Amino acid sequence: MKYVLGISCGYHDSAAALIKDGKVLGACEEERFTGIKHDSSFPKNTIEWLMETYNVTSDNLHAICYYEKPKEKLNRIQLSLEKKPKKWYDIFYNTKKSILKRNQKSYEEIQNEIKKLCGKNTLIHYVDHHQSHLAYSYYTSPFHHSAILSVDGVGEWETTCLALGSKNNINKMGSINFPNSLGMLYSTFTAFLGFKPNEGEYKVMGLAPYGNSKKYKEKFDKLIKKGKNGTFEIDMQYFTYEYDDKSMFNEKLGQLFEIPNRLPEEELTQDHKDIAAGLQSLYEELFFDLLNVLYEQSQSDSLCLSGGCAYNGTANGKILQRTKFKKLYIPPAPSDAGSAIGCALDYHYRTSEIRVLNNNPFLGPGYGKQDILNAMEKYKDKIWIETKLKEQIVDVIAKEIKDGNVIGWFEGRIEFGARALGNRSILANPRDPQMKSRLNRVIKKREGFRPFAPMVKEELSKAYFYYNDTVPYMNQVVKVKEEHGFFLPSITHVDNSARIQTVNKNQHRYIYELLDKLHQINGYPIVINTSFNLKDQTMVLTPEDAIRTFLDCEMDILVLHNHIIKKKIL
Ligand SMILES: [Fe+2]
Repeated sequence: MKYVLGISCGYHDSAAALIKDGKVLGACEEERFTGIKHDSSFPKNTIEWLMETYNVTSDNLHAICYYEKPKEKLNRIQLSLEKKPKKWYDIFYNTKKSILKRNQKSYEEIQNEIKKLCGKNTLIHYVDHHQSHLAYSYYTSPFHHSAILSVDGVGEWETTCLALGSKNNINKMGSINFPNSLGMLYSTFTAFLGFKPNEGEYKVMGLAPYGNSKKYKEKFDKLIKKGKNGTFEIDMQYFTYEYDDKSMFNEKLGQLFEIPNRLPEEELTQDHKDIAAGLQSLYEELFFDLLNVLYEQSQSDSLCLSGGCAYNGTANGKILQRTKFKKLYIPPAPSDAGSAIGCALDYHYRTSEIRVLNNNPFLGPGYGKQDILNAMEKYKDKIWIETKLKEQIVDVIAKEIKDGNVIGWFEGRIEFGARALGNRSILANPRDPQMKSRLNRVIKKREGFRPFAPMVKEELSKAYFYYNDTVPYMNQVVKVKEEHGFFLPSITHVDNSARIQTVNKNQHRYIYELLDKLHQINGYPIVINTSFNLKDQTMVLTPEDAIRTFLDCEMDILVLHNHIIKKKIL
């Protein structure tokens, strides 16, 4: 029995995963337990849950894998800090030293925590940051031979990595080093546009279709010098992320774009939208250069994608159309969270040639009958409960969705990765023209410009969307067919796009049946699916979280497994 624990933490989206003989038994982001969005702390709660659930102790824990190499990373931080321009307050506060010390301390703490988990025979194994990304996407893919691309912020030194996976081997074919980083570039403009870096990138992507990508093209072109084989250099005179961990750009960037950076509470102007569009366009240009080089080098029809940038659904949705790749796989948690699985699988496949199927995204904690009964008992004064057979629930809920009600849907184990895939989801009618603004305003309390993502029955997806492949993990943005966009106003973006999730019966039996029923009564096998959480909160984990969140907002109905819950009017 070879239990291997994978850990990624210290930067953002901390996570842990447990594998046994190559099978991922469980994995979860620490934020799901702590409620702190993108929690970067050591994933104590997740590890505790994994070890308790699978009866793992330090005695039978074969290895602990860590998703990057701390020494190399500290070395990069130290060398990059040397480039920091001298300013009087830097000398006064000694900021260079404090940044390095903070990072050293953080790694020491992580290493101490890891040692505490070890038994006499437990090995500690450090894997390259990008190797962890590559391994996660390749080893959880259905391919035994595939090109792999990891596009990210930064690891030790690498920011981008091109590789070829063949059986149980991953061979790196090329890489780009810090500070030339597509992820850092995107995050810098996320900050420039007044959103949180490492968090608000999807908002910039959502804003881009409202802008004109040509308006700032010349300015964006000044930031980049293209090299051979898809490489590029960033003109660092505008950026500070190389040596500063608090800001990412300097005043020269605003001077170049002739616009000051936007503060979070400021209005979004057309200029901001044009910058978002220009950024997305530049990202795609460089991204597709890399993919074309990778195709030529690998001569593989399949592509596995990972790294934080693999959440850029707009670019991902164009891969099969704009490159020669014929098959695409993007795992559910391509950023650092997924690296907890990646580093453990990388370790496993060093000694094993037998590929193990790992295509289940529902890897977090699940809750039983008694947990649900206890939670309902606790809130019994505030809720009405109707208990039915799950099969009956689908019919009732489909009708409620058709009638314009917003449904909280809770079942099984929580999904791993940023997207709700049907176990912790909010569902609503995509045909209702008011639904986008209702969900944005009342439930998610977020900016009104972003549409919601649809789930669609896999085999019927082609009838409504211009996309021939399956998208099980909701990471590709595709075009809605003209004749349907008008009838699906709440999932269709201003540029006629939608970030789809295709669902088949094996993936999710009840969501599939719900889509089937909606097809009959609502004309479309499609439902809005957004993650089950309120603004600035993490996805609900327990049945109690679900009821509390349901009572805290204007959601109409909550489904907890086979119970339908409504609010009592007090
Ligand atoms: Fe990463």
